[in-house]
Amino acid sequence: MEFEAPYIAKKAQAGQFIIFRIDEQGERIPLTIADYDRENGTITIIFQIVGKSTQHLATLNEGDTILDLVGPLGVPTHLDPDVKRVCVVGGGVGCAIAYPQAKALHSRGIYVDVIAGFRSKDIVILEDEFKAVCNELVLCTDDGSYGKKGFVTNALQELIDAGRNYDAVIAIGPVPMMKFVCKVTEPYNLKTIVSLNPIMIDGTGMCGGCRVTVGGKIRYACVEGPDFDGHQVDFDELMRRNGTYREYEQHCRLMAQA
Ligand code: FES
Repeated sequence: MEFEAPYIAKKAQAGQFIIFRIDEQGERIPLTIADYDRENGTITIIFQIVGKSTQHLATLNEGDTILDLVGPLGVPTHLDPDVKRVCVVGGGVGCAIAYPQAKALHSRGIYVDVIAGFRSKDIVILEDEFKAVCNELVLCTDDGSYGKKGFVTNALQELIDAGRNYDAVIAIGPVPMMKFVCKVTEPYNLKTIVSLNPIMIDGTGMCGGCRVTVGGKIRYACVEGPDFDGHQVDFDELMRRNGTYREYEQHCRLMAQA
């Protein structure tokens, strides 16, 4: 979905996000900026229907409006200037975030491989877009209905074994996926940046909702992230915290459907 948001489009960088409210009653939903067009003043978001607000968002048509959105929030992804070879790993709707990362790196002349993983063929997104901004795209599905059968972690291990010699890996997707990508890269001491997706409310460092533990210290993903060193992240705690409102979200969504 494209939003007309010229001031945000002007400043947005890879790794940053927005928070939107659909209406006066709407919760605040963070979504990564998947793409931007500075000339036309638009930003693109890619979302999955999870709760009531995203369900409502999906019913909007061209020309409709939402109450407000704020951004760009968060710290843009930073890679050391001496990084020359990167593997970007995206899982599911996380590919929406992996895409601007690959695009930004590719435009800097960095060698980029992309591994994009999906549950099945019907939810594959951005295949052509990825192909345009990387050296090699490995597309995998869990059920083998498209591309290579298996998980992104297997594909990553194969590329490492093939001697790709990456300087860094960027992993974006479901928390368990990011956790296991980090387990693959840890023995090689291969720098791995993950983009965390904790519950967020204000997005400005005041509420504490997005608290994550990184290297044993509390960090606020909205203002200090969302990117962190994956080898330092307490993923199990993040999974526990992210599940806090799951039942309530599903309940609200079902009530909205009724
Ligand atoms: Fe409130 Fe980060 S979202 S402190």
